[in-house]
Amino acid sequence: MATGMKEQQFAGYTLSCKRGRFKVKEVMRLLKLTYWAKDRDAATTRESLRHSHPFGVFAPDGKMVGFLRITSDHSTMYYLADVVVMDEERGKGLGLALVKYALSNRKVCRGKGLLLTHTANGLYEKVGFYNQADRLMVRDPLPDEVYKPSGSAQA
Ligand SMILES: CC(C)(COP(=O)(O)OP(=O)(O)OC[C@H]1O[C@@H](n2cnc3c(N)ncnc32)[C@H](O)[C@@H]1OP(=O)(O)O)[C@@H](O)C(=O)NCCC(=O)NCCS
Repeated sequence: MATGMKEQQFAGYTLSCKRGRFKVKEVMRLLKLTYWAKDRDAATTRESLRHSHPFGVFAPDGKMVGFLRITSDHSTMYYLADVVVMDEERGKGLGLALVKYALSNRKVCRGKGLLLTHTANGLYEKVGFYNQADRLMVRDPLPDEVYKPSGSAQA
């Protein structure tokens, strides 16, 4: 699923969503800095990348210093996740630039935008997200054993 979006420059860094730039190991290096995905394994990371749109910030030497993913139906909703910038690169505007770059993709970001956060509300408010606690429901992950091989879930 190509997003058809060009790379952009920001303060000497490159904003990109070219799939070839996203290596599982590199993504995991950044996810280890987060509180929600620090233990995510390689298989899960690979699968999550395959089924979503990755966006990144890359330093002049090509190293990825920021990452996020968007899961979308390209028509009614999109979900922003795994937003992270390397510690030593924070506070330079890279996180906001990356979020803006991703959200400017009209093919992927159509309809209602969703995300979960309890640490970076201020960042997302800058691009139009707001709290709607009265209607949010979530479902936690279930163990694999719950799903029967036939595909009929018991949960
Ligand atoms: C959140 C994170 C991605 C921000 O990246 P960053 O590159 O440091 O952010 P920026 O420099 O682009 O900040 C842009 C603006 O957003 C604001 N902002 C950034 N992080 C924020 C936070 N955690 N809470 C509130 N506002 C925040 C900044 O104050 C700045 O506003 P200003 O220009 O008015 O000063 C980064 O701190 C990070 O990786 N944190 C750990 C992972 C995480 O918590 N991710 C978000 C979970 S949903």
